[in-house]
Amino acid sequence: MRKKKIALIMGTRPEAIKMAPIVFALKQRSNDIDIVVIATAQHRQMLDQVLSLFNIVPDVDLNLMRPNQSLNDLTCSVLQLMQKTLEDVKPDLLMVQGDTTTVFAASVAACYLKIPVAHVEAGLRSHDLHNPFPEEANRRLTSTLTQIHLAPTPLAKQKLLNEGIKEEDVFVTGNTVVDAMSTLLDAPFSFQGSPIENLPLDQHRVILVTSHRRESLGEDLKNTCLALKEIVKRFPDVLIVYPVHLNPNVRETVMEILSGIDRVVLTEPLDYLCFLNLMRNVHIIVTDSGGVQEEAPTLKKPLLVLRKLTERPEAFNAGLSKIIGTSTDKIVKEVSVLLHDDKAYQAMIGSNPFGDGKASERIAELICRWANNQTPLLPSENEFQG
Ligand code: UD1
Ligand code: UDP
Repeated sequence: MRKKKIALIMGTRPEAIKMAPIVFALKQRSNDIDIVVIATAQHRQMLDQVLSLFNIVPDVDLNLMRPNQSLNDLTCSVLQLMQKTLEDVKPDLLMVQGDTTTVFAASVAACYLKIPVAHVEAGLRSHDLHNPFPEEANRRLTSTLTQIHLAPTPLAKQKLLNEGIKEEDVFVTGNTVVDAMSTLLDAPFSFQGSPIENLPLDQHRVILVTSHRRESLGEDLKNTCLALKEIVKRFPDVLIVYPVHLNPNVRETVMEILSGIDRVVLTEPLDYLCFLNLMRNVHIIVTDSGGVQEEAPTLKKPLLVLRKLTERPEAFNAGLSKIIGTSTDKIVKEVSVLLHDDKAYQAMIGSNPFGDGKASERIAELICRWANNQTPLLPSENEFQG
């Protein structure tokens, strides 16, 4: 029997981080399957940072990033180029991860060519099309085009079942970000040679901030920056580190308000290994990122989420995060509580609800069983139990 060919696609930094452990796990099963890695390169520098860290060289690189391109332009480019790529590569299955425009458009391209789709990190829902935007839409649309739904948590599985997706097509795997983290955090690390090598991390209470979401651009991001300015003014022992996303719309606001402010350090995006080790050394994490919401509880760091709602409520439900929105006063208030009140701080430390570090093994095993026509693809006793 011909070996089945699995194509894995990635466009942005978080997709590459979360796909990397799956690439490794599938490569170890080369007796059963062949794999092809396709990069749309919706991100360029930020994707390359991750690819080089994990030593992944895409078999196909569509090099699609254009400065500040619109979602429609990006969608059209992915659709057009994926038609030819999928016709050339002829995969038996396309694996996508997450909620980006790469994920949605590549899934459409696969559907039109009758190639089945496996969706990693399926079933996250905020139930608000505008938050996160356009990721909530991308996820819902991708689910309708997917044959194998790889839900990271039992809650994500339930959300898919609520939408009428058949139980036999949904598998709870855990989130592969936990796998990526555990591999990298085991290795010894020094900040020497990194952009933050000279930061006096041990002399301050450090607050790590990231904010880049499209729905936060403009007024909300401005409010967040004003809050950060106020926090360093009120707390002389606090140092804020903010690696700024390369989206020019993010950079413009952040640089305008926070450049040159004492004890606010703005850096370029840090490579993932450096960023993880920074997270490990900070006091509080404040973010609107999806991936960081999953990583902070894994590292047992209190997490304040700069969003109106989240499609990742597991940390919030476990008391490990607070959804604080983007009003300046509210951000200052919630950060102040954690800086003043050790009891409130300690109450936000608990065990990680997102995965157990075995997600990529479960996914690779499941894909091999699919390739060999075996069922069930993942026996329920082997699923991540949450
Ligand atoms: C995209 C994803 C979002 C994900 C985020 C991860 C969509 C619609 N959005 O965000 O889900 O959370 O990536 O970071 O798919 N840029 C560079 N170099 C890079 C990356 C970006 O210069 O390496 C600049 C470019 O001008 C680019 C702009 O940032 O046009 C925005 O990039 P884009 O992929 O559209 O990012 P977001 O939509 O902000
Ligand atoms: N990250 C990184 N360097 C940085 C900031 C973030 O490697 O300077 C990592 C972070 O640990 C997480 C991922 O990038 O795994 C999140 O990416 P982003 O916030 O851009 O996207 P989202 O998760 O919101 O889709």
